[in-house]
Amino acid sequence: MSKFITFEGMDGAGKSTHLAWFADALRQRGHDVIVTREPGGTPLGEQLREILLNQPMNIGTEALLMFAARLEHIEQVIKPALRAGKWVVSDRFSDASFAYQGGGRGLDWDKLSLLEQWVHADLQPDVTLFFDVPVEIARQRLTNNASLDRFEQEQADFFERVRAGYHRRVSQNPQRYVVIDAAQTINEIKRKLEVIISSI
Ligand SMILES: Nc1ncnc2c1ncn2[C@@H]1O[C@H](COP(=O)(O)OP(=O)(O)OP(=O)(O)O)[C@@H](O)[C@H]1O
Ligand SMILES: [Mg+2]
Repeated sequence: MSKFITFEGMDGAGKSTHLAWFADALRQRGHDVIVTREPGGTPLGEQLREILLNQPMNIGTEALLMFAARLEHIEQVIKPALRAGKWVVSDRFSDASFAYQGGGRGLDWDKLSLLEQWVHADLQPDVTLFFDVPVEIARQRLTNNASLDRFEQEQADFFERVRAGYHRRVSQNPQRYVVIDAAQTINEIKRKLEVIISSI
């Protein structure tokens, strides 16, 4: 049976570090897996990603474009894959909109809920791995990266609000999440993910 799994957490939490390996581990268990990401996941979505990560804009515009890219992603990629019995692993999904546009930018949570209802009332991830890490540690991990995007350039207080946004989301629907202490070493996290894989 197909499953929809999402990776969430702030910039520098370690999502991308573990994603390819995680997908391979699922494949080794016999699943047909596709890996995708947000914003992005389709040709139009990737164009919107480019704009979203680089072009300053109104907070509302930012949220609408995120969900516009997501609608394409769901209809063109996620739902067809799930219908075909595949497993879908996405680097970010709607929790990121609540965390960044809701928590970070302060956009009204109810507006985001409205967009979520519009765009995917009938779809939620089966499991969301939330890489939770103190802001300071995540920032340190990004300092080697020369070209930071519009979000990564934000200050620590923005990321404290992003983290709080994620926590609010987890508290609203705790059974969907596995919270990973992402301050641990890469090997410790890998061992935790191995345990998670054998339980899903
Ligand atoms: N547990 C860890 N301990 C130390 N360094 C780590 C750990 N996890 C990831 N890193 C390093 O931190 C940096 C950011 O990791 P990664 O790109 O996986 O984060 P991300 O969650 O995908 O961030 P973004 O949202 O910006 O894409 C990388 O250089 C990676 O090697
Ligand atoms: Mg990443």
